[in-house]
Amino acid sequence: MAPRESRTLVLDRTRVRFFCWREQQATATLQTRKAGIEDMQTQTELTDKQIAFIGAGSMAEALIRGLCQTGIANSQQIAVTNRKSRDRLAWIKEAYGVRIFPDMRDTVWSADVIVLCTKPRDVHRALSAVAKHASPDALYLSVAAGCTIADISDTIAAHRPEGQYGALPRVVRTMPNTSCAVLESATAYALSDTCTDADRRMVETILSAVGSAYPVEEHLLNAVTGLSGSGPAYVYYLVEAMTSAGIDAGLDEQTASSMVAQTLYGAARMLQSSGQSPAFLRERVTSPGGTTFAGISALDQHGFSTAVMHAVRSATVRAEQLGQELTEQKL
Ligand SMILES: NC(=O)c1ccc[n+]([C@@H]2O[C@H](COP(=O)([O-])OP(=O)(O)OC[C@H]3O[C@@H](n4cnc5c(N)ncnc54)[C@H](OP(=O)(O)O)[C@@H]3O)[C@@H](O)[C@H]2O)c1
Repeated sequence: MAPRESRTLVLDRTRVRFFCWREQQATATLQTRKAGIEDMQTQTELTDKQIAFIGAGSMAEALIRGLCQTGIANSQQIAVTNRKSRDRLAWIKEAYGVRIFPDMRDTVWSADVIVLCTKPRDVHRALSAVAKHASPDALYLSVAAGCTIADISDTIAAHRPEGQYGALPRVVRTMPNTSCAVLESATAYALSDTCTDADRRMVETILSAVGSAYPVEEHLLNAVTGLSGSGPAYVYYLVEAMTSAGIDAGLDEQTASSMVAQTLYGAARMLQSSGQSPAFLRERVTSPGGTTFAGISALDQHGFSTAVMHAVRSATVRAEQLGQELTEQKL
C-alpha cells in the first residue's frame, strides 16, 4: 500500500479533478439552461419588461442571479427594494448591477412584473405599500409560502388608489425550493383566473432562471410544499444517515460525505438523462441475492417508503395549517 502522505496526495488530486469537473458541469448546466431559455424568450416579451423585487433576501437574490446569469433579463430591467437593510441593498447592486431604491414608489411605479419576496408574515404590509404606487396592469408573482392568490388579490384591491378600478389583479403564486440558490429549484406555480397566456409564458421564463417550473392548481401547492419544498431537507437527512453508515463502516467523514453527495448527484443525473423510471433503474442494479438486494430489503423491513410517505403528508398538513393561520391573520 502507498505511504499515507502519497495516498493523501492522490486523494487531494482526485478531489481537485472532481471539483474542476463539477465546475464544468455547472457551466454546462448554465449553457443548457440559456439555450432552452433563448427558445422560450422568442415566445415572451420579457426583454421589454421592468421587474421589481420587493425584498432583497436569499430568495430574491437567487432569482436576480438566475435572471442576470442566464440573460433572461439585464440588470437595468431589475429594480429592488427592501424594508430597512440598506447595506444589503447596496450589496445586491454591487453584485448584480441592478437598480436599487429605498423607496417603494420608485421601485414599483414603472414595473410590469412585481416579485414579492418577503417572508409570508410581511406580505400584507409590503403589498399595501406596493398596491398604492404600482400600475393596475402589473403582474404580481409571489414566492411567499402559504399566501393564497385570493388573499394577495384582496390586499391589492383594498389598497389601490381611490378611483383606480382597473381589471382584477393578475397574481401568480409559486413554491420554489432552496435549490434556487444553485439555480436548480423545482418550482411549482399557480395562476389566478385573471392571468393571460402571455403571463404564463413570462412566468415560466422567469422561473426557468432558477430551475424547472411546473404548473399546478393552487390547491395542490400545499402538497408541493410537502414534497419539493421540504424535499431538499429529506435528501440532506438521507445523506446524513448514509454518511453516518459509511463512518460506522470505517470510512473517514470527509470521504464518506463526499462519496454520498457524488452518489446522489450521479443518481439524479441518471434519472434526468436516462429517461427511465426510478423503479427501472433500481431494479436494474438489484440482482436477487446481491448486495443492493440486501440493502433494499433492509430498507423495506424498516419501513422506508412508509416513512417517506408520512414525511410528505405531515409537511403537507403543516403547510395547510400555516396557510390557514396566515389567512386568518389577513396574510
Ligand atoms: N429561502 C428559500 O429557499 C425559500 C423557499 C421557498 C419559498 N421561500 C419564500 O421566499 C420568501 C422570502 O424568503 P427569504 O429566505 O428570501 O427571506 P429573507 O432572506 O428574510 O428576505 C426577506 C426580505 O423581505 C424584505 N421585507 C420585509 N418586509 C418588507 C416590506 N414591508 N417592504 C419591502 N421589503 C420587505 C426584507 O427586508 P429587510 O431585510 O430590510 O427587513 C428582506 O429583504 C418567503 O416568503 C419564503 O416563504 C423561500
